[in-house]
Amino acid sequence: RPADGTAAEPAAAEAAAPAGPGSLLIIYGTQSGNAEWIADQAKDAATELGFDVTLADMGEATLEQVAGATKLLAVVSTYGEGEMPDDAEDLWSEIAGPEAPRMEGVSFAVCGLGDTIYDGFCQAAKNLDARLAALGATRVVDRAECDIDFQPAADAWMPGALDALLAAGSAPAAAPVAPVAEPAAEPVAEPAAEPVAEAWGRKNPYPATIIENTVLSGPASAKEVRHFVVSLGDSGIEYEPGDGLSVHAVNDAALVELVLARLGATGDELITDRKTERTLRDALTNHYELATPSKYLVDYIASRSGDAELTHLSATGDHEALDAWLWGRDVLDLLNVDPTLTITPEELVNELRPLAPRVYSISSSPRAHAGTVHLTVAAVRYRSLDRDRGGVCSTFLADRCGDGAPISVYITPNRSFRLPDDDAPVIMIGPGTGVAPFRSFLHERAARGATGENWLFFGDQHRESDYLYAEELARFTDDGLLTRLDLAFSRDQEHKIYVQDRMAENGAEFYDWLERGASVFVCGDATRMAHDVDTALHEIVAKQGGLDADGAAHYVDQLKQQKRYLRDVY
Ligand code: 2AM
Repeated sequence: RPADGTAAEPAAAEAAAPAGPGSLLIIYGTQSGNAEWIADQAKDAATELGFDVTLADMGEATLEQVAGATKLLAVVSTYGEGEMPDDAEDLWSEIAGPEAPRMEGVSFAVCGLGDTIYDGFCQAAKNLDARLAALGATRVVDRAECDIDFQPAADAWMPGALDALLAAGSAPAAAPVAPVAEPAAEPVAEPAAEPVAEAWGRKNPYPATIIENTVLSGPASAKEVRHFVVSLGDSGIEYEPGDGLSVHAVNDAALVELVLARLGATGDELITDRKTERTLRDALTNHYELATPSKYLVDYIASRSGDAELTHLSATGDHEALDAWLWGRDVLDLLNVDPTLTITPEELVNELRPLAPRVYSISSSPRAHAGTVHLTVAAVRYRSLDRDRGGVCSTFLADRCGDGAPISVYITPNRSFRLPDDDAPVIMIGPGTGVAPFRSFLHERAARGATGENWLFFGDQHRESDYLYAEELARFTDDGLLTRLDLAFSRDQEHKIYVQDRMAENGAEFYDWLERGASVFVCGDATRMAHDVDTALHEIVAKQGGLDADGAAHYVDQLKQQKRYLRDVY
């Protein structure tokens, strides 16, 4: 990642630069608000440099606006397996499409946000960066590619990018931007602040209520898996099987009070937060992450406290060691590294990262469960450093929404995770809560009367306590909807049995399904399960297809290209 501030050389300013930096269009494509957050910071920095800045969501910006810009900064997140954020899709198809105009007059810089856990890391940014260049626009600086802890990487890149945009030659009036009608001359209108009747979405989440909250796992389970039914009321919200529901979590009030006490604050202090004035309690409750400290807070506490271990971790840049140290530590723990340290509310808020909504794969079918969204969520609870802790959103849903108070939600579509045609066979691999989208698929296929065969692999630790939706799955089997159901309870016998072992045991049949056009879906743990399932798939293809490793890899690549091998992993 370009986190060391080594921005590429700015393109040499051609003719004398016009007076003032001129106008800058900043567009952002965001899924959870992080790209918007960075774009907003870029706007402030650019305005400070004297740019006349227009900031636009890619969901609102037009192709004409982009092609007509002289200087363009794009901040784009990547979603799923290398896709543009949902709101940015339409503009992206226009930019990528055959009708897109040449953009010789545009100087641009692209900042990508992503997650290295996925194959297509920062792919949306890579695509946009390459496409703008292909259309003749001038890249003034190498693209940034920021991982999950995006802020430091973005901060390292941004000043160099703005300098390069500053130095870039403005397009002469006669720049060949045809066939765009009115280029530079016409000032681009600031997009309307907020359309009057905006649809429910990220910027306008729907206040939904939870009408059911039950525990699916048995008392002996190592996990606490819950089934939630969220009422969509009269919102008119629609979704498809495979989609996710984004939920705005609210931090635990008890933790907020502990942080306030540590600061010596009442919570009623007013702080200015992204130009909005709010109380410190509101900021800590609804707007900032308290559970996962940012690298900035680590650096800040290290430099202020002089704590040897933390200073070392902060200085070495060893992400793994830092992550290991941070495990089980929240913002309060970090503040308590040095109990004598005083820190003002503003100073603290400055070092925190925005509270991002959490996305859960929906486990209901819109046709079978009209007007509701079902979620299948493991409530994350653990004890660390003498304090009980919990996953921010999973415990919010489990414990803190019981009073019928609305929770802010919106649908996050997953266009790549879609059922194939009704007559196509489907193989679903979803151990643990990874079963969620497949419960949706099965209900959907039942409701549609889809004739394609269905094969589900499910697993967890123990049948007795962890067999989620056992009755429904038994019914689907009896009804003939589930052609095959293979279970892998890892700890019910001496040796571990996992879903991929069940795949291997049934390799011949698995391959036969593939040859008959089956789509393979995987949902659940990304770090181990999805990886091992991928290996098992390659082995099945090699063995049953009589292929060597390269041949099997090619076969699986073909599946991917045909969108018949799809993953929703986390
Ligand atoms: P384990 O905890 O007994 O090892 C859901 O969490 C299930 O996934 C559990 O049965 C768990 O087994 C299993 N699991 C753990 N590691 C896995 C892996 N690498 N591949 C597939 N399943 C795995």
